Amino acid sequence: MPRPESQSVPWWREAVIYQIYPLSFADSDGDGYGDLPGINARLHYLSDTLGVDAIWLSPFFKSPMRDWGYDVSDHTDVDPLFGDLDDAIALIEKAHGLGLKVVVDYVLNHVSDQHPWFQESKSSRDAPKRDWFVWRDGRDGGPPNNWVSIFGGPAWTFDEATGQWYRHTFLSTQPDLDWRNPEVVEAMMDVARFWLDLGVDGFRVDAAHHMMKDPRERDNPPAPPDRETPWKSMGEYDDWLHLYDGGHPDVHAAHRRFRSVVDEYERDALTVGEIHIFDLPEWASYYGEQLDEFSMPFNFHLMAADWDVPSVRAAVEAVLWNVPEGAWTNWTMGNHDEMRLASRLPEGHERIAATLILTLPGTPFLYYGDELGMRETVLGDASKDPWGLNVEGLSRDGARTPMQWSPEPHAGFTRTDVDPWLPVSPTYEEVNVETELAEERSLLNMYRRLLALRKKSAALRIGSFQSDEASTDDVFVYRREHEGETLTIAANFSGEEKTFATGAGSVVFSSHDPDRGEATGGRVDLAPRETVIVAHI
Ligand code: GLC
Ligand code: MG
Repeated sequence: MPRPESQSVPWWREAVIYQIYPLSFADSDGDGYGDLPGINARLHYLSDTLGVDAIWLSPFFKSPMRDWGYDVSDHTDVDPLFGDLDDAIALIEKAHGLGLKVVVDYVLNHVSDQHPWFQESKSSRDAPKRDWFVWRDGRDGGPPNNWVSIFGGPAWTFDEATGQWYRHTFLSTQPDLDWRNPEVVEAMMDVARFWLDLGVDGFRVDAAHHMMKDPRERDNPPAPPDRETPWKSMGEYDDWLHLYDGGHPDVHAAHRRFRSVVDEYERDALTVGEIHIFDLPEWASYYGEQLDEFSMPFNFHLMAADWDVPSVRAAVEAVLWNVPEGAWTNWTMGNHDEMRLASRLPEGHERIAATLILTLPGTPFLYYGDELGMRETVLGDASKDPWGLNVEGLSRDGARTPMQWSPEPHAGFTRTDVDPWLPVSPTYEEVNVETELAEERSLLNMYRRLLALRKKSAALRIGSFQSDEASTDDVFVYRREHEGETLTIAANFSGEEKTFATGAGSVVFSSHDPDRGEATGGRVDLAPRETVIVAHI
């Protein structure tokens, strides 16, 4: 089949993608929950004020909200909290009119226990959809094996009525679909088609490596006592080596099938898989041997790296080395599952993170509010994340508080006389869109300058990458180059003034000083934690 666009660069390679957590972006109807018309009314902020190219919307589908939308009970309808299907259609149209692409979340590993598929499946052992989920007999009066759920407790729940256990990677209210059943695969392909038919430009694919497990369902071995976890600590889940309960190679066939359906639409739709695998060759296998699986797996390697120049540089180079020929990567430092980057990184390092994400070779993913410097909010009893309720210390709500639009009460997220679903961060009087727009040196205005520069610079969007020998243990220096345009990017991770050597050029961006534009013939000074971009003639 001819692919008219295949000669050009797919849109998502050059795009900056902004993640919206719909519950927390903007509430239009005064119920305290963000909704689709709320997002619709704020799209200009994204397309014009900030200047991003695409939005990724976390789930807004029908859901009993046990996992705040990641437990879908109808993939082809909108939850009334967010509006209705017409609101989704209107949002896609409005976004497209403003030149924004729309990426939706595709939750394929599991559904809500309220989903009609599961309701039918649990109705009897002979139900036609019984084998759409993973039902097993118990072992010695307990669950079928020792697998545990990511959100705490066993990965199996006993169903009294039919006397069997069903598997769930996450909450017991999120039963796993059986992706070894071709009927399930095709039903989920129809879900993808439904949203593609409505015009979406891609999918962020949730928990994409979890959906295939060891067909023999062997017990996981216990983890050695002092093992370092590759990523954050996850409580009891870390007590086991997860050899058998995820990432079985059969998963690749499912992703190839998904990709083939997406490609039927010939719109270079983006598919980005949530792959929390830190072994780089295995991570890279999710591009597919023929680059026929995900457009790209999410790159969490920068987020997981220690935050110092040698570690960051090593992570960047290791990722780029492992991206297969002809493929493309992405950079992200935050999302709805992680602690806010402004709180995770050392004080004052938000500007370094922003510079790296927006100037390394790959598609940047920004998380709503990080452009303002929104911080992790301590919520205590107000926390609603089931993970945090099950496992002490793991609530993700600190990074999900309402978007801070203005210094008014509730930060302009909702009406002043209703309580937002999660409390607004106490920082909102200074950290908000309105206030920061008025301050020339605010973080928001720094993001805007950097995004505008990126828009003008093919070297930043699609140029080659080279680590520069001027890098030290304190200053990370690299170059981007495209058809004669050469830029040097330098980031001072230290709390001291530094200089670095570079060829003739002029400073076209400074994270600290919007007016800095001096010509340079040899050395460039950097303030503590300052980043600069030098354009060479
Ligand atoms: C993914 C999502 C997370 C969700 C989980 C279960 O990891 O990012 O928010 O809780 O899947 O769907
Ligand atoms: Mg609302």
